[in-house]
Amino acid sequence: MKHKNIVILFSGEGSNLLNIIEKLHQKECHVTAAITNRPLAKGIEKAQRHNIKVEVIDHKEYSSRDAFDTQLLETINHYQPDLVVMAGFMRILTPLVTDNIRAINVHPSLLPLFKGGNAIFESFKSSEKQGGISVHWVSSELDGGEVIAQNSFDKEEDETLESFTTKIQKLEHQLLPETIVQILKGVSTSEEVREFTE
Ligand code: GAR
Repeated sequence: MKHKNIVILFSGEGSNLLNIIEKLHQKECHVTAAITNRPLAKGIEKAQRHNIKVEVIDHKEYSSRDAFDTQLLETINHYQPDLVVMAGFMRILTPLVTDNIRAINVHPSLLPLFKGGNAIFESFKSSEKQGGISVHWVSSELDGGEVIAQNSFDKEEDETLESFTTKIQKLEHQLLPETIVQILKGVSTSEEVREFTE
């Protein structure tokens, strides 16, 4: 059976990007392209090592948010993905993009807690007893789309920001690929995806 296509958006280290490529590419789906807004993102080399096409769209080269988003949408559409996966993509998008793609995002907190770009630090510092991650549909509201799957862990007494971050990353590397597989199989409602990933 022909593999479904996914496009991955990333901005930095690309550990989720690499993890998806290693676990799913040519096995569960085809990673048609990886797109980044940062020319120096470490993930670029990780994707290229696996012969994944990387598109760099440097947001600093665009005069407005709309101009960047127009180019991003055009690039995504060029690859005709069945699903767009935002994995550490640190750029706020306008409805020009979010209303016109089918996309999920991984976020390092138990949404709706700690939306935005500083979620790991904020949830580590908070009085919450648990940390966790969410995979959610992308909507025009930042980190506000419907949650598809979540996973959590208890904070230890001697938890450091480093150990907390490592636990988050471990959960992301497990839950994000699992969720992608379920969505590509056509498991469409969040309740159904939850049944498979819990
Ligand atoms: C991940 O922890 C992801 O959840 C987070 O950025 C990290 C990227 O790591 N995303 C956000 O905070 C989005 N608001 P990676 O580049 O190693 O995959």
